[in-house]
Amino acid sequence: MATILGIGLAALDIINTVDGYPKEDAKIRALNQRVCRGGNTANTLVVLSQLGHRCSWGGVCVDEPDGQHILNDLAHYNIDTTACKIESQGKVPTSYVMSNQQNGSRTIVHYRDCPEFQFTDFQSIDLSPFDWLHFEGRDVAETALMLERVKQISPTLPVSLEIEKARPQIEHLFSLVDVLLFSRAFVQHQGYSDAASFLQSIQQQASDAHLVCAWGEQGGYALDRKGSLLQSPAYPPPQIVDTLGAGDTFNAGIIHSLCHKSDLATALNQACQLAGKKCGQIGFKGLTLLEQ
Ligand code: FRU
Repeated sequence: MATILGIGLAALDIINTVDGYPKEDAKIRALNQRVCRGGNTANTLVVLSQLGHRCSWGGVCVDEPDGQHILNDLAHYNIDTTACKIESQGKVPTSYVMSNQQNGSRTIVHYRDCPEFQFTDFQSIDLSPFDWLHFEGRDVAETALMLERVKQISPTLPVSLEIEKARPQIEHLFSLVDVLLFSRAFVQHQGYSDAASFLQSIQQQASDAHLVCAWGEQGGYALDRKGSLLQSPAYPPPQIVDTLGAGDTFNAGIIHSLCHKSDLATALNQACQLAGKKCGQIGFKGLTLLEQ
């Protein structure tokens, strides 16, 4: 069991399940609707908490009913929210999700009216209880300050960073962490059609980090610090029902295994198993690995 702090997004997800993605300007009826807590870091922490870790969340919430819904759900999963910054006005990050029952795809329209978590918010967190820190690559300048602070005050504390979306100068963060978790969308946005070539291309920029990338139905790829390329197959469930948060679950699998001192190949394999399991169920409740 590790004590883990995650800094990033918690959101409200309004998920309409549809029987096929609609044509533009069409009017269709949803098969059902779920309203639940989401957000990359919050999803990752919910999975980690169920895998037995003690988790804390640092991020921004708003004092409004949907903000309370988010905090209640995190409390339900025993996630400590002391480091959360509560804004008195605005709107929590909200995702309007269309989940296509035919193939499990999730199309997201995202809206938010609140600031990002700032370096000054992070500065007041006591890092001494934590065995692992996880960040989302969002506001690059603020995240860089946070990562530099960690290096300064807790140089041996392992840090992972999720790189989901391309943002100006996000590559400046690569050399500041121990594990980089790239999304397939980011890799493709960089002009690569395969994960291995991308990971090899950035190795010089992040030579001290394990580089990891989830690749959906093809499983996952990683490049360890020595430059060895690793691959794991995917573990698709009998039926894909919900892919929302599969990447966040994969990230939890990597962090979980590395916290248990597994090697990177084992971590990659466990992450693929966990992400596969997630795709076969709605939401994150009860996600565990066989051997823990
Ligand atoms: C899934 C997810 C949703 C959230 C959205 C934010 O990865 O975290 O739960 O609303 O992405 O980008």
